[in-house]
Amino acid sequence: MAIILAIETSCDETAVAIVNNRNVYSNVVSSQIQTHQVFGGVVPEVASRQHLLLINACLDQALQGAGLGWPDIEAIAVTVAPGLAGALMVGVTAAKTLAMVHQKPFLGVHHLEGHIYASYLSQPELQPPFLCLLVSGGHTSLIHVKGCGDYRQLGTTRDDAAGEAFDKVARLLDLGYPGGPAIDRAAKNGDAAAFKLPEGKISLPQGGYHPYDSSFSGLKTAMLRLTQELKQSPEPFPVDDLAASFQDTVARSLTKKTIRCALDHGLTTITVGGGVAANSRLRYHLQAAAEENQLQVFFPPLKLCTDNAAMIACAAADHFHNGDRSPLTLGIQSRLAV
Ligand code: KG4
Ligand code: ZN
Repeated sequence: MAIILAIETSCDETAVAIVNNRNVYSNVVSSQIQTHQVFGGVVPEVASRQHLLLINACLDQALQGAGLGWPDIEAIAVTVAPGLAGALMVGVTAAKTLAMVHQKPFLGVHHLEGHIYASYLSQPELQPPFLCLLVSGGHTSLIHVKGCGDYRQLGTTRDDAAGEAFDKVARLLDLGYPGGPAIDRAAKNGDAAAFKLPEGKISLPQGGYHPYDSSFSGLKTAMLRLTQELKQSPEPFPVDDLAASFQDTVARSLTKKTIRCALDHGLTTITVGGGVAANSRLRYHLQAAAEENQLQVFFPPLKLCTDNAAMIACAAADHFHNGDRSPLTLGIQSRLAV
């Protein structure tokens, strides 16, 4: 048993959760999406200020929701990296202060490790090793999970993250922010085969292509050209077909790399994390390809796929059991590999 209170403020969600190992007692997420929507994306300074305004209310709500008081909390955890520096600072300062005031052990957690642990929350019987496809606004990674704190990144992106590509293409199509859900919605009325788009392959110096790395810059450029061309045409702008074709290309490409990576490494279980795990086309292709190859694939519920503090607390609980503690001098890092 380890009751952990965790704080997550690495981007635009102010989140506090209380978890007992893999049991979620409370999971408070205060989204700033509406605040940033007018700017068409996350504004770092605005995010830090919003975290400051929201953090105390989120802490109170998490304790009330769990029906607990500070004496019940065994340790305090927080996301220390990677993320927006100012945003991370708010959470880390709050967590350190609380650890000092209430004399609790303190644990700094890597944000991506949190996304990996979201799968354990929804699938408590899940055991490593498995392959985690992490697709969010900041990351596109294929991670071989061997155990607590034992991760090997097998694939990454050479340019934009998958969610970033969705956000940028949505802006191009005037679909608004955040782009992923907007494209997903528009794509439902579109034809995925309407436009043939490049998949984004990474050439290797010795010839051939990198099997697991992604690139979205060629696809983005193709979308830009098509959009410019089609906007000149007298025909109605085929926004739904463009959204569906773009989404299908990304989903197929991620599916192909993930399945190949799992098979090459003898991994029979795949989990998906990050906001793009919500994408309906990715779910469709990955599920079908996994079944075809007799692999298991787990998609945590959306609330656990997007940024939250329950996943941070869950990762911290395993580290806590292993005897890990962080010093109160631990700083934030805006960039850090898992
Ligand atoms: O994990 P997350 O909440 O925050 C980060 O750590 O980045 O992911 C946010 C990203 C955004 O880029 C958003 O557009 C994308 O996830 N996203 C989606 C969908 N829902 C959210 N992308 C594609 N399809 C969706 N349905
Ligand atoms: Zn995230």
